[in-house]
This record gives sequence, C-alpha cells and structure tokens, in this order.
Amino acid sequence: MTEDTNDLATGLKQAMQNAPATVTVITAGATLSEANGLTATSVCSVSMDPPSILVCVNRDSNSHQLITESGRFCANYLSLDQKAIAESFASPGTGPEKFERANTRVREESGCIALEGCLANICCEVSQVIAAGTHSVFIGTVKHVSVSDNGVPLLYGLRGFGVFSAD
Ligand SMILES: Cc1cc2nc3c(=O)[nH]c(=O)nc-3n(C[C@H](O)[C@H](O)[C@H](O)COP(=O)(O)O)c2cc1C
Repeated sequence: MTEDTNDLATGLKQAMQNAPATVTVITAGATLSEANGLTATSVCSVSMDPPSILVCVNRDSNSHQLITESGRFCANYLSLDQKAIAESFASPGTGPEKFERANTRVREESGCIALEGCLANICCEVSQVIAAGTHSVFIGTVKHVSVSDNGVPLLYGLRGFGVFSAD
C-alpha cells in the first residue's frame, strides 16, 4: 500500500471490515419528541474510575448537534433480533422517523431516551469532547446502566451484520 491518504483511508475501511464490532444505537435528547440517534460501532469503555465510555460521531450527522446541545447520550447495545433497529438508525431521516421505523419501546433515563430490549443501556453525561478529523470523540461519564443477560450481541463486520461465536 502507498502512503497516499486516500489509499490509507480505503485500507483502513477494509481493515475495519475484518474487525467485527458491537453494534450500538447512540441516542440523545431528553424526550421522545426531541430525540434522535445514530447506529455506531466506534464505542468503547474508557475508565472504571470514574466510569466512562467514548463514542466517535461524525460532525455532519444530525445526532452530533443534539449530543453537543444536550450534553448527554445513551449507548444502547443491540441484540441480534434488533437488526432492524440498527438499519433504521443508520438511514437518513428525522429523529421521529427513525424511532417510528425502528418500532421499539423506549424509556426516559437520566436525561436520555433508552431503547427497550437491549443487552445494555449506558446513559452518560458528556465530560470531554475531542475533535478528531471528521469526527468528535465524546467521552461520557456514566450516570445510569441497565444490563440484560438475555440475548446475543449484534456485531457488524465483513460488510454485514452477524454474531460472535465462542469455541
Ligand atoms: C454498522 C454501522 C456502524 C456505524 N458506526 C458509526 C460510528 O461509529 N460513528 C458515526 O458517526 N457514524 C456511524 N455510522 C453511520 C451512521 O449510523 C449514519 O451516518 C446515520 O445515518 C447518522 O444519522 P444522523 O445524521 O441522523 O445522526 C455507522 C453505520 C453503520 C451501518
């Protein structure tokens, strides 16, 4: 591979296809009428003291503005049977359109909208924002966690949705 920036970007995209990642929907907005969200795999835990996670969000996305304005977000970790929700929140549309298409129940939690039926919901207050190329890295201090041990995590990799299989 050459050092050309475009080639490196293409190479990185291809490399990430070989690194399946857990699928989340990042929601923001305190009430359903003002909420929005996006499907995201660039999410990971940062620290346990204080408990915190990060998410990388494209600055051109609608959700970026809402996370910035509200100062909060919720990482909803999807299960295999929630693939349609991932597709809805990865497609263009307003917040209400996405929630209607996703056809999922929601609840208000710590100033965020949490999606029902997920393997985990982690609601956060934004503590730090780092500009990184086209994206912002939002670091959030965890304010509320819900965990379910029922279900199989939904992953994205090799250009499709799938599951992790432990030997
Ligand atoms: C599997 C998958 C993972 C994605 N991960 C991210 C991500 O980590 N960060 C991001 O900004 N966009 C990510 N996207 C793209 C957004 O979901 C997509 O651009 C969305 O339509 C943005 O919605 P909004 O502009 O209404 O906020 C991902 C899309 C898919 C299908």
